[in-house]
Amino acid sequence: MPEPKHFITFRDLSLQELGSLIARAAALKAERAAGNFRRDHLAGRPVAMLFSKNSTRTRVSFECAINELGGHAIVINLGDSQWTRGEPLSHTSRVMSRYVSGVVIRHTKEAELVELARWSSVPVINALTDERHPCQVLGDLLTVSERLGPEALREAPVCWIGDGCNMAATWLEAAAVFGFPLRLACPEGYLPDAEILRRAQADNPRVKVCSAPAEAAEGARVVTTDVFASMGFEAERDKRLKDFRGYQVNAGIMAKAAPGAVFLHCLPAHPGEEVTEEVIESPASAVWDEAENRLHVQKALLEYLIPAL
Ligand code: CP
Ligand code: NVA
Repeated sequence: MPEPKHFITFRDLSLQELGSLIARAAALKAERAAGNFRRDHLAGRPVAMLFSKNSTRTRVSFECAINELGGHAIVINLGDSQWTRGEPLSHTSRVMSRYVSGVVIRHTKEAELVELARWSSVPVINALTDERHPCQVLGDLLTVSERLGPEALREAPVCWIGDGCNMAATWLEAAAVFGFPLRLACPEGYLPDAEILRRAQADNPRVKVCSAPAEAAEGARVVTTDVFASMGFEAERDKRLKDFRGYQVNAGIMAKAAPGAVFLHCLPAHPGEEVTEEVIESPASAVWDEAENRLHVQKALLEYLIPAL
């Protein structure tokens, strides 16, 4: 049996593969808008969805995607599985491979997800870890391409303001593959993982760290951020609210960006903290399209990674 193709980081796929996925997602979106929801790529086949963290968008969009491709989703809270009672990952993974055609997983430690994939004979898709959130940034890139045109993925300056979390790290990896300029402004001590940043800068000299949000936003065509305290960091919330003062995306920051700039946020958001209500609800905000686009890119991804029978 050939080795399965996984999607754990942007580096698992080539620029050409990622570009084709975005184009395919746009075509699937247009078909669905015309009333054609059903496809039979997964005809009757099960896909497991494993979660050890909360989710709204990922859970619903993947379940819709699997169903619309003719398959069915089996959703498991990892806390209810034998994995969290100490079953070796190598056992869980091989057993899953005997039942399902793919595994979608949201988990804390990415190293465990990588280990799961190593033992899996079916594709494993990263639905968020402490380190990355590639399905989200794939949807974000479709949104940028819709709003600013496909060439924006090579050229449009993107700015990241706030926490150097899993989302920021994934934007870095996307910039490394696609080549667009990316400027980050993060408070001291909150830059993304040093190795991910180093590799992104080595691959794309247009990746820059700025000393202030206004500097990062200057002339940007995409402005994006995320919550100050990601899942798992709730206990640091009070400290982070202080440390992130001055790192809010507000009308002043949007005014520094290029005319027609787009605001993105993966959601869930905390309006009034990392972004103002005014910006989220403004015409520049593409957050609802961005959430919708998760469905379309994930359909394209499932179609691509899980071979037809
Ligand atoms: N953006 C995103 O992944 O949302 P959920 O946590 O609701 O899945
Ligand atoms: N950085 C956020 C993303 C949520 C979709 C978190 O990890 O909680």
